[in-house]
Amino acid sequence: MTSFRQSDRLRNVRYDVRGPILTEAMRLEAEGHDVLRLNLGNMHPFGLEARPEIVDAVAAGLAPAQAYSDSRGIPEAREAVAEHYRRCGIDDVSADDVFLGNGVSELITLTLQALVNPGDEILVPAPDYPTWTGAVNLTGGVPVHYLADEANGWNPSIEDIESKVTPRTRALVMINPNNPTGAVYSEETVRGIADIARRHDLILLSDEIYEELVFGDARHHHAARTAGDDVLCLTFGGLSKAYRVCGYRAGWVVATGPLHRAADLLEGVTLLSNMRVCPNVSGQYAIPVALGAGAPGSPLPADIVDPDGSLERRLALTADALNAIPGVTCVPPRGALYCFPRIDREMFGVADDEAFVLDLLHTEHILVTHGTGFNWPEPDHFRIVCLPDEHVLTRAVASIGDYLARRRR
Ligand SMILES: Cc1ncc(COP(=O)(O)O)c(C=O)c1O
Repeated sequence: MTSFRQSDRLRNVRYDVRGPILTEAMRLEAEGHDVLRLNLGNMHPFGLEARPEIVDAVAAGLAPAQAYSDSRGIPEAREAVAEHYRRCGIDDVSADDVFLGNGVSELITLTLQALVNPGDEILVPAPDYPTWTGAVNLTGGVPVHYLADEANGWNPSIEDIESKVTPRTRALVMINPNNPTGAVYSEETVRGIADIARRHDLILLSDEIYEELVFGDARHHHAARTAGDDVLCLTFGGLSKAYRVCGYRAGWVVATGPLHRAADLLEGVTLLSNMRVCPNVSGQYAIPVALGAGAPGSPLPADIVDPDGSLERRLALTADALNAIPGVTCVPPRGALYCFPRIDREMFGVADDEAFVLDLLHTEHILVTHGTGFNWPEPDHFRIVCLPDEHVLTRAVASIGDYLARRRR
């Protein structure tokens, strides 16, 4: 009998954040175990709610949302996105440069499908948000990983990136603030990356979905602003994180720079946007109110993303508690929602980090994600989501510490 098989293009496509370990966690839950899920940056299950105006705007939009919209999204939402970037100092952005999508996730795949020919190389950070590597593989392109340097606050080395450019390189992906490391790149780093794109005529694909989630003295620098007029930059953003509405699937990609040279590519992005007809329309109604466009005196995003400083505290507390475990080190995150600690492989006898997180799940009922799931080359890291209440996080890290102490013995 024939077995019906998936396409060969999926051979190198992985998304372990929702992979086999989650399936095992769900099996344990079905058996009646309580599993603490620290695998997804999903705000609402942790009691982190959106501003009520955002929810109300979507509710009020449900009637008109019965219709398909323009394939790029409703004009008022695209204008709100353009206005957001103009406010951030990226002049000249207009609603025509904005494509809305069902979250950044859809737009990553769509954009890479429009851009990449088989064999084209795309520079992607390691570790990365794995949709990037997966989507490059899906198109038949080749993800070429450049390393983020843990010893330098997880900033990528500009020299390492440049050494990996070849005649086949088409684009350079940066994720800033970074998932999974929590790094927020300095202006110098962003400029260095933009300069490489300029020197080698690469497209800068800048995933800035965590742009408002920066803490302490960290500052976010938009790649599009730093790169200026002569680098084609596609900036990805959305409402899933700072605005806490992951489920509305409201994301965008914005094209800036020498657009006259990008007409053919953008025609391709438009074609693929037309083929998926339009993004979910109801979620788009969240965008104008979330970004505060057109409402004089409405709060700037920075005022609403971490109103009581609780996210910042949760990240700091988790990093401190991890660093207190012998054999574990964690670069304190400066942005986003995660810690990405290193474990001493020899001390804990870890040969396979997926097996390690599976064992942690079985013994402690805590679900985290192994570092190789983020295309980190060594099996010596894991990612923990820092969204629960402080006492839950404290208990979770204590359980991880107990588990590791037992592994040591
Ligand atoms: C760096 C990064 N990019 C994109 C996404 C996808 O976001 P969206 O909900 O907009 O699809 C995530 C989600 O966690 C992410 O961490």
